[in-house]
Amino acid sequence: MQRIFSGVQPTGNLHLGNYLGAIRNWVRLQDDYECIFCVVDLHAITAWQDPPQLRASTREVAAAMIAAGVDPKKHIVFNQSQVSAHAELAWIFNCVARMGWLSRMTQFKEKAGKNRENASVGLFAYPNLMAADILAYKGTHVPVGEDQKQHLELARDIAQKFNNDFGVDFFPIVEPVITGEATRVMSLRDGSNKMSKSDPSEYSRINMVDDADEIARKIRKAKTDPEALPDSKEGFEGRPEAANLMAIYAALSDESVDDVLSRFGGEQFSTFKQHLSDLAVATLSPIQDEMRRLIAAPDYVDDVLRDGAERARAISRPIIHDVHEIIGFLQSPNA
Ligand code: TRP
Repeated sequence: MQRIFSGVQPTGNLHLGNYLGAIRNWVRLQDDYECIFCVVDLHAITAWQDPPQLRASTREVAAAMIAAGVDPKKHIVFNQSQVSAHAELAWIFNCVARMGWLSRMTQFKEKAGKNRENASVGLFAYPNLMAADILAYKGTHVPVGEDQKQHLELARDIAQKFNNDFGVDFFPIVEPVITGEATRVMSLRDGSNKMSKSDPSEYSRINMVDDADEIARKIRKAKTDPEALPDSKEGFEGRPEAANLMAIYAALSDESVDDVLSRFGGEQFSTFKQHLSDLAVATLSPIQDEMRRLIAAPDYVDDVLRDGAERARAISRPIIHDVHEIIGFLQSPNA
């Protein structure tokens, strides 16, 4: 069976973009793949995280996965730091990947900004850890958004170089999984920027913990333009905010943009926003209710993560053992 690995960072403000862009797609992969879904807390600390907040966010992300319909019995849900294979293999990949490869990563350049001297070494090596996440399980497929494609490419390069250097055919060359029309949810204030947990404006995003009133208010205040809705997709040219609201509607209702436009083409945005807000509340509230229930009594979530980590260890342990053998590390046979 083909094996999926994917991860979400527990860095607070889990929002609609995380849900429509990642978690919801994971739910749909469960029938076709063996899935390992990870709350990547080791990745989170490449930037400063407040410890109590990190703990809460880890539970929040896990709760969102479960509430959205990921089955933690059939598949594996766990947090990265509970399985040492990630950090161990990441170190080995630090010694496989080249400085030049990592220097070309656009996400590092963006996140480090002008102040590179002050970025953590972890932020620079971040893609090596991501490669380790996937390859510690010999993952074959990774569902990724546009912004992670370069990192996935790097994981392929690392697997290839490792195989070449040691003359083995050990690590698989991972493939991206495209799940239908990828939904790239943009900021509600600026249609050319991705919806982001770090945007200072609360009105830029719909958080998974927002209640019905907040969702309605944010959609009402979302930036648009004075034009009515067009009759076809082409009519969104140069109208990124309008296109974004439409993309969100289509994703939530699981329709194509053209199907939605066949109903709403020619309408004013004020009317459309009302429909969008009703749809968002109706679609999200069952998930949000379940999330709140899970977060209020975190023992269940903690048990899921612990059990998932144990099963993840059972898969990664023999793989790490083989890696050590290939590299030439002495080891006790049963470690
Ligand atoms: N880097 C990914 C992100 O920020 C999260 C992630 C970590 C990931 N490890 C992964 C995604 C492995 C896919 C596979 O979105």
